[in-house]
Amino acid sequence: VKRERPADRLVDWSLGEVESVAKARLPQMAFDYAQGGAGPERTLAENVAAFARYRFRPRFLVDVSKRDLSTRLLGRTHPVPFGLAPTAFHRLFHAEGEAGTARAAASRGVVHCVSTLSTTALEEVAQAGAPRWFQLYVHRDRALTRSLVERAKGAGYEALVWTVDAPVWALRERDRRNRFSLPPPLKLANFERYLDKAGGGADGLANYVNSQLDPSLTWDDLAWLKDVSGLPVLVKGLLTPEDAALAVERGADGMVVSNHGGRMLDHVPATLDALPGIVQEVRGRVPVLLDGGVRRGADVLVALALGADFALVGRQAVWGLAAGGEAGVARVLDLLREELDNAMALTGRRSVADVDASLVARV
Ligand code: GLV
Repeated sequence: VKRERPADRLVDWSLGEVESVAKARLPQMAFDYAQGGAGPERTLAENVAAFARYRFRPRFLVDVSKRDLSTRLLGRTHPVPFGLAPTAFHRLFHAEGEAGTARAAASRGVVHCVSTLSTTALEEVAQAGAPRWFQLYVHRDRALTRSLVERAKGAGYEALVWTVDAPVWALRERDRRNRFSLPPPLKLANFERYLDKAGGGADGLANYVNSQLDPSLTWDDLAWLKDVSGLPVLVKGLLTPEDAALAVERGADGMVVSNHGGRMLDHVPATLDALPGIVQEVRGRVPVLLDGGVRRGADVLVALALGADFALVGRQAVWGLAAGGEAGVARVLDLLREELDNAMALTGRRSVADVDASLVARV
């Protein structure tokens, strides 16, 4: 009997397999773009390794017959304490693109943070009806940025996730080797622009960012952004208590502890290691979210134990999309939820409010 391999079945893989299922289906350039990181990719590995340094301290004989994974964030009850991190170019991974991702998010009620660099226009992504945030790259052209923000607000995006860790683009060796660009007809759908791979020996994305995004941004621009958008602004990409303090002082509505999935500057710490100092500085005044290295439901629980209010999952959802479009993303969300629920029950935690630092020990 010929045994079917998991990759042959549409949605019958585990979270441990989804990356290899995706890899088998993707061109090298697309796979490398999503899997890779900056420089020698030490931070990329470290984000994952940091989670492996913690162990749960389970408590028993707690009645866990009723469990509630929901949490409040930015005026909404989320069914689970995690959402989809912003990731670019979903049509590079599956023909359904961002619309498929958004339908999966909508079907599970999970928040979807849509990237400025989406290959589907933000209005079209919004039609799926998922709770949604808009990840913003501020362009040198402020009128363009302003119109992007106004469009997002008009299309029902509930918050801006302002990425601040990319004043210049990363040195990504895989993308350079592959001369990364979007194969036509894929475009930056929010601007109807192609990514030009010509020039400078770099890749098309690096060329775009270095020529279009504003490297002169400062904390003063947060007030401008809040003013033009009228939306809550989460500052994404912080790694130090100093910047966390400034974010609070300058009126951020929250922050995402992030190193851009190890994709921006190598040699920065794992986000999980940066988290406790930031949480201590912020003292609950605004929500602190985390992305980077979250591959499993149990990872979400570790992040919450170390003080995160919410986690964001990037690559696993991209792999789910590549493996099975909307159904693949939905399966990733279901598996993350199942694992988180299982870990909470088996550690004696009935709700997110029951999760604190006593849940983990560092090894
Ligand atoms: C986009 O933001 C990327 O990390 O490639």
